[in-house]
Amino acid sequence: MRILRDVYIIGAGETRYGELWERSLRELAVEAGLRAIENAGVYSRDVEILYGSNSLAGIINGQENIGSLISDFAGIAHNNIPAVRVEASSASGGAALREAYLAIKSGEYDLIMVGGVEKMTDIYGNELLNMMGSILDREWESFFGATPAAMAAIVARKYMKDFNVEKEALSMMSINDHENASKNPMAQYKNKLTLKQAMGATNVAEPLTLMDCSPITDGASAILLASDRYMKKNKLEGAMVLGSGISQDYFAVHNRESIYTLNSAKIAAREALKKAGKKLDDISLVELHDSYSIYGLLELEDLGFAEKGKAKHLVYEDIKAGGRIPVNTSGGLKAKGYPLGAVGISQAVEAYEQVMGKAGQRQLKSVDSVLLHNMAGTGSTSVVHVIGGE
Ligand code: COA
Repeated sequence: MRILRDVYIIGAGETRYGELWERSLRELAVEAGLRAIENAGVYSRDVEILYGSNSLAGIINGQENIGSLISDFAGIAHNNIPAVRVEASSASGGAALREAYLAIKSGEYDLIMVGGVEKMTDIYGNELLNMMGSILDREWESFFGATPAAMAAIVARKYMKDFNVEKEALSMMSINDHENASKNPMAQYKNKLTLKQAMGATNVAEPLTLMDCSPITDGASAILLASDRYMKKNKLEGAMVLGSGISQDYFAVHNRESIYTLNSAKIAAREALKKAGKKLDDISLVELHDSYSIYGLLELEDLGFAEKGKAKHLVYEDIKAGGRIPVNTSGGLKAKGYPLGAVGISQAVEAYEQVMGKAGQRQLKSVDSVLLHNMAGTGSTSVVHVIGGE
């Protein structure tokens, strides 16, 4: 019988996030992977399996089978290790991290590369919008013209009306992301935002302006996961994956109990915290899946940091880097960027750097545990991880 292993992130690497016209999907993936190997200080020949996360390469880049593609382009095809893609829309990264975590925990593997990549700018305009619509329910939502932005706007309107929330509260989420991204060299948008700029930006889907929407992003992030056995043998250090949770909700938003309640987030967070043996009070940083500013507020509530309708009280001071519950020191989806399938790994990179004291200008003073929430589309799947010191 195998002994359950402890699982650690021992290294991380990323490309810059942005509109990287001159780079290809495979180049981005390999660059992030090599940086992670270098950062961890291990040999690539020790990697036993590669998990890749990606959402839309099939339709945006016309490329499937990307596990093998990336393994080959990385120059490790001769190692003959398995290389598989994990797909759960924009929660692909979190789902891949979870699969890798379970694979090490079970005792099957000791060293795994988990990488996420998305190359979105190869297509633009309405064609890309239509492809992103595949994340929603095609028959009940996108067929009728709904886009991810439109769905977020519908949710925002009802939420703001029912709980008397002003537009300013949404803008504050984006202002916080931009402030933090200004300290992240890998971020897509490093400009700080004023309230006037955020509120006065072009409308995308009322009440959401351009500054409430995550951008279109190319980028890749990678981490190396290792067992306690591998770490000890090679005298390495890492950030422990303390707990993992995943859950599902109704696919189409209209079927849900309430359109502004993310049940999948609630359940996944409860599971991850329980497995980690942590309470919300132990969380020093939360990385949210704020594809739209409204989701940032909903997530703060459904992950347990505020009662329903009350997240508006956290957005002025508490979520700042020096606040009670810092949010998105990475810059979040709004300002670090949103390469769909890579986001869950991007969040894990931030957790690793914060826990290990390697976050540079973004470093928080004292970090116990970091909670990561990675979500598919409008909340049909949620993956939560808790990462921390021992
Ligand atoms: N935040 C800040 N600036 C942004 C931005 C954003 N979200 N999106 C675009 N910009 C900037 C661009 O850099 C560009 O600046 P420049 O003129 O100085 O170069 C300018 O705004 C226009 O960019 P463009 O690419 O033409 O914008 P667009 O109108 O085609 O697209 C959105 C804007 C918001 C519609 C698009 O980014 C979008 O669809 N985002 C949502 C992504 C999404 O839904 N993902 C899936 C969710 S599940």
